Amino acid sequence: MGIHQSYDDLRRMLRGHHLPALVCDLDAFDANLDALSERAGSQPIRLATKSIRCRALIERALAHEAFQGVMCFTAGEAAFLASHGVRDLLVAYPTVDRHDLQAVCQSVVDGANVRLMVDDRAQVELLANLAEARGVELSLCVDMDVSSEYPGIWFGVRRSPLRTVEQVIAVASAIDASSHLRLDALMGYEAQIAGLADKGFAQAWRGPVIRRLKARSAREVRARRSNVVRRLRDSGFPLPLVNGGGTGSLETTAKDPSVTEVTAGSGLFAPRLFDHYDAFHHRPALFFALPVTRRPTDGIVTCHGGGYVASGPAGEDRLPEVFLPTGGALLADEGVGEVQTPVQFKGPSALELGDPIFFRHPKSGEVCERFSSVLLVSDGAVVDEVPTYRGEGQTFL
Ligand SMILES: Cc1ncc(COP(=O)(O)O)c(C=O)c1O
Repeated sequence: MGIHQSYDDLRRMLRGHHLPALVCDLDAFDANLDALSERAGSQPIRLATKSIRCRALIERALAHEAFQGVMCFTAGEAAFLASHGVRDLLVAYPTVDRHDLQAVCQSVVDGANVRLMVDDRAQVELLANLAEARGVELSLCVDMDVSSEYPGIWFGVRRSPLRTVEQVIAVASAIDASSHLRLDALMGYEAQIAGLADKGFAQAWRGPVIRRLKARSAREVRARRSNVVRRLRDSGFPLPLVNGGGTGSLETTAKDPSVTEVTAGSGLFAPRLFDHYDAFHHRPALFFALPVTRRPTDGIVTCHGGGYVASGPAGEDRLPEVFLPTGGALLADEGVGEVQTPVQFKGPSALELGDPIFFRHPKSGEVCERFSSVLLVSDGAVVDEVPTYRGEGQTFL
């Protein structure tokens, strides 16, 4: 990972701004848009909005010719984005929340194309009843599991129970049985390839093993996804939309002729967990800046705030990293604190009270939940300040 930003430039740009602050480098963000587009080849990219959580930046991505439509993380988020004019929406995870589903029905009435995710006949029944009571037709997407199972290893995630063609067709037929539902899409998301890095592990043996598992799993995913798509089409479901992949798997997913689009979101901010893939290096584009407020001893400064730990299995890789100035490190005893975060530098630090320290979050969109706005910087200056979802009073999960 090359560092494109200079500490002195960023510090100068932030002078006079309130800290802590969330900062997006638009030049890096735009470079990442182009790089993702190139990696996806001729496949359109659906934007995973959970990895952005800021409408202005979602709109900036959608203005890029390679990006088409959004993948939402809740039905409520889909209704929110639809109310702001987004027309092509896929909700990536099943929901049984009637309030959110009613909001989606209204979006559909208002002309948005929202596909809801299902992987269980009970969800289908709930949606059929709701759509009938509301007098709307709902468009659905079936999520098929594309995890790989090897002796003693579940290589994938625990989401959809639908692993075989027969299981998928049973849910598709349940959808078909309702005059208020339409099966429009299939999703097969290979989390074990897209979300798992190739290198950077503490134990050296892990990298080669994971690379081999990923290559083998990619071949299996392609065969299984293609087979389900073919069988559904043979059974009379036209399936105009077949979605797969994520930032970490664009190269392999885009080559699967059965997919009609790929998904990406994290590659735009390029958080820490995406530093260790073989196939790509996106530019870090999102940082948070904490002010130095104390100097407990030579070589250690303490910042105000910082406890923004990422979701997932708890471990060191879920901690933010000190980005700029270079050479800073968290203290093992304290990590990032609820209100105080000490940072250690080798030798005495030249940082003054009030100076910012820039951190990168491990994941892409989560940190936006801790800030109400993002400062947009470009070409050496702050050019705008835009609200995050939180800043618009929207917290979906
Ligand atoms: C269903 C689904 N598709 C795609 C993605 C990939 O998103 P990103 O590119 O932000 O990693 C995710 C991420 O978790 C996901 O859950």
